[in-house]
Amino acid sequence: MTQNFSDQQLKYWIENDDPWLLNEAQKLRRQWYGDQVYVRGLIEFSNYCKNDCYYCGIRCGNNMARRYRLTPQQIFDCCREGYELGFRTFVLQSGEDPFYDDDTLCRIVSGIKERHPDCAVTLSVGEKERKSYQAFFDAGADRYLLRHETADEAHYEKLHPVEMSYQNRMRCLRDLKEIGYQTGCGFMVGSPYQTVDTLWEDLQFIRRLKPQMVGIGPFIPQKDTPFGTETAGTMEMTLRLLSIIRLIHPHVLLPATTALGTIHPKGRELGILAGANVVMPNLSPVAVREKYKLYDNKICTGDEAAECRFCMQKRMESIGYQVAVNRGDFQP
Ligand code: 5AD
Ligand code: FES
Repeated sequence: MTQNFSDQQLKYWIENDDPWLLNEAQKLRRQWYGDQVYVRGLIEFSNYCKNDCYYCGIRCGNNMARRYRLTPQQIFDCCREGYELGFRTFVLQSGEDPFYDDDTLCRIVSGIKERHPDCAVTLSVGEKERKSYQAFFDAGADRYLLRHETADEAHYEKLHPVEMSYQNRMRCLRDLKEIGYQTGCGFMVGSPYQTVDTLWEDLQFIRRLKPQMVGIGPFIPQKDTPFGTETAGTMEMTLRLLSIIRLIHPHVLLPATTALGTIHPKGRELGILAGANVVMPNLSPVAVREKYKLYDNKICTGDEAAECRFCMQKRMESIGYQVAVNRGDFQP
């Protein structure tokens, strides 16, 4: 189900606070998901990346980044700890790191599914060939996150070097959906050169793709990148977009992201109240947390998995919501 609003209305909501919007988004969120907030355990297993996106702190051109990789065994250990803490979805995220070839990634996915058959595995490892996506799916991966970053081709080219292509990114998202993944797209709010028109295109794109998940968070500059002195996106704009996305695509899985928690101490709580229904506490080993720095001042880098898990529970309870211990699948 997706709802139609006029272009004018959407553009108005992007730029202006409207209490009706917030109210309606919260109503829809409750209608579909009640007071449940789904949790995903995020495992950032490598910060090596062959890409050089201008906004990202782990871009290959950033010599200041200290690089790390987790072994399959270390990833399994994170999942075991996460399982004991009540996580039933694991999100494996990394830079585009060719060190993990298809076979290795398949072994990691099937290894997790063997150990925890009642859990969902989400991959977020970037652009791949269709046959790789198919292989991961056959190995048991349930979901895939690949933010489209912007649905405007000219804007895409301002955020990425020429080696990267908008067309290939779109091809990837189409392939993922066709293969049968619960698929997530998304973008940064307030990225350099973003306009009301490019955001409107993002919304149109979401309407067309009908993804099961949409990940959005504010752009936050990372000082060692080409965009290191650009202005950050705002919480207000991010909250408005969360509400708009809930409105145009009422049953979507919509996280209140770490980036939102980074620009405001109550960002994630406010994100849930604006229509989000997912949070993704970090399960990565504390020894590597500090190094997965897409942007500056990232929160939770010093906290053990258990601390993050219970901190999140308290935060959700403080606004009248419950953390759900289940896979938290998309409700078609
Ligand atoms: N600020 C906010 N989000 C960022 N991402 C990458 N760099 C930044 C940044 N500086 C987001 C991108 C990417 C996701 C994993 O993190 O949208 O897809
Ligand atoms: Fe990580 Fe609060 S959620 S410390």
